[in-house]
Amino acid sequence: MRISAVLCGFVLTALLGLAGCATPQRATPAATSSLYDRLGGMPAITAVVDDFVGNLATDPRIKAKFANADMPRLKTRLVEQICAGSGGPCTYSGRDMKTAHAGMAISNDEFDALVDDLAKSLDKFKVPAREQKELLGILGPMRQDIVSR
Ligand code: HEM
Repeated sequence: MRISAVLCGFVLTALLGLAGCATPQRATPAATSSLYDRLGGMPAITAVVDDFVGNLATDPRIKAKFANADMPRLKTRLVEQICAGSGGPCTYSGRDMKTAHAGMAISNDEFDALVDDLAKSLDKFKVPAREQKELLGILGPMRQDIVSR
C-alpha cells in the first residue's frame, strides 16, 4: 500500500472521525456537531428564548394563558429544556410536560400558535431552516402531553 494512501486514511480518520477518503463530504461541521452547537450554544438559545417568551406574552391568541405565569422561571426552564434536548451541557430541572400543563385546557390551535411564535424568534435570529426543523422535531412530539382539549 502506498504511504500517501495510508496517510490520507489516517489523517482523515483523525480529523473527521471517518475511515477512508471516499466520503469526506459527509464530515462537514454541520453534519457532525450537535444541534446545540449549530444553534450557537447558550448565548443564541438564551436570545431566542427571551424573544420567544416576549412573543408568548403579547400574542393575542395565547397571552391569556400566560397572564399569571412566572415568566422569568419559564424562560430559565425553556432554555434548560432546549439546551438539554439539543445535546448541550444542561439538565432540565422543571416538571415533565404533562404535569406542567395539567389543567390548562390547552388546544391544538394554541399549541400551533406557540410553535409559530417560536418560529418567528428563530427566523429573527437567523437560525437556518435545517436547525429550526430539528428543534421543532424535538418539541413537536410534546404536543400529546400538553394539549388537553
Ligand atoms: C412544545 C411546546 C411547549 C413547551 C416545550 C413548553 C415548555 C414549558 C416548560 C419547560 C414549562 C416550565 C415547567 C416548570 O416550570 O416545571 C412550561 C410551563 C408553562 N407552559 Fe408550556 N410549553 C409548551 C407549550 C405550551 C402552550 C401551548 C401553552 C399555552 C398556550 C403553555 C403554557 C404554559 C404555562 C402557562 C406554563 C406555566 C408557567 C409557570 O409555571 O408560571 N405551554 N412550559
